[in-house]
Amino acid sequence: MPLIEARELSRVYDLDSGRVTALDRVSLDIEAGDLVAVMGPSGSGKSTFMNLIGCLDRPTGGHYRLDGVAVETLSGDGLAELRNRKLGFVFQQFNLLPRVDACANVELPMAYAGADGKTRKARALAALGRVGLAERAHHRPMQLSGGQQQRVAIARALVNEPRLLLADEPTGALDSRTALEILALFQDLNREGVTVVLVTHDAEVARHARRVIRFRDGKLLSDTRQEAAEAREALAALDAGHAVEPGSEMATLEVLA
Ligand SMILES: Nc1ncnc2c1ncn2[C@@H]1O[C@H](COP(=O)(O)OP(=O)(O)O)[C@@H](O)[C@H]1O
Ligand SMILES: [Mg+2]
Repeated sequence: MPLIEARELSRVYDLDSGRVTALDRVSLDIEAGDLVAVMGPSGSGKSTFMNLIGCLDRPTGGHYRLDGVAVETLSGDGLAELRNRKLGFVFQQFNLLPRVDACANVELPMAYAGADGKTRKARALAALGRVGLAERAHHRPMQLSGGQQQRVAIARALVNEPRLLLADEPTGALDSRTALEILALFQDLNREGVTVVLVTHDAEVARHARRVIRFRDGKLLSDTRQEAAEAREALAALDAGHAVEPGSEMATLEVLA
């Protein structure tokens, strides 16, 4: 059974100025364990699609099953519970609370889960450890770099052990090296079994997915599989490149050799 089953999924907005078909009868499955990039120009329906599969919005047409559950049969509360239990969200602008530390930010999705304070804290610290930020647990967002803030957001998305991680332009606000670090983290999580769907307009980012879905004008334009580039390899190559820059210790050693 696929994790995501979309059938003729549509989202139409009726505005005073006319109808906008943001998503136009999209049918596709996403299997558990996949790493999928969603591409397309601005306005092509990428965020609309993510909001529907993330149960943040309801379709105006078609059907959607998440992990076998027909989402249209659920009430608002049912949807919220499904989101909380099965989904983690990551956004371009991190969306962290500025006044509390990383640990408290990561604890937030557990506020409804009924765990006591001590358990919540332990699980938040474990999630921060998983994204390599155990040492930054008591820093506020402003005291962290962009890449570190996005890691906190990813820890927050992971803290309820979701099956599916949905990320809308997660590297859009980061420099290319930091973006690679975030992609390496997504690839690690994917290897651990988390299904990842990420929106990007950047072909360089999409190279790290195993499947690329393209939208245009709200329609599914193409759906291809590829060998995913390894972000860790690109990072290692970058590090090696730095090491042989003129004047560096490595360059000196090479000259001497
Ligand atoms: N809340 C909304 N009300 C009206 N139109 C919307 C709304 N959200 C998105 N749209 C329209 O739907 C289309 C797809 O938008 P979106 O999914 O945000 O595209 P993308 O994420 O690919 O840039 C666009 O034409 C956009 O203007
Ligand atoms: Mg968008």
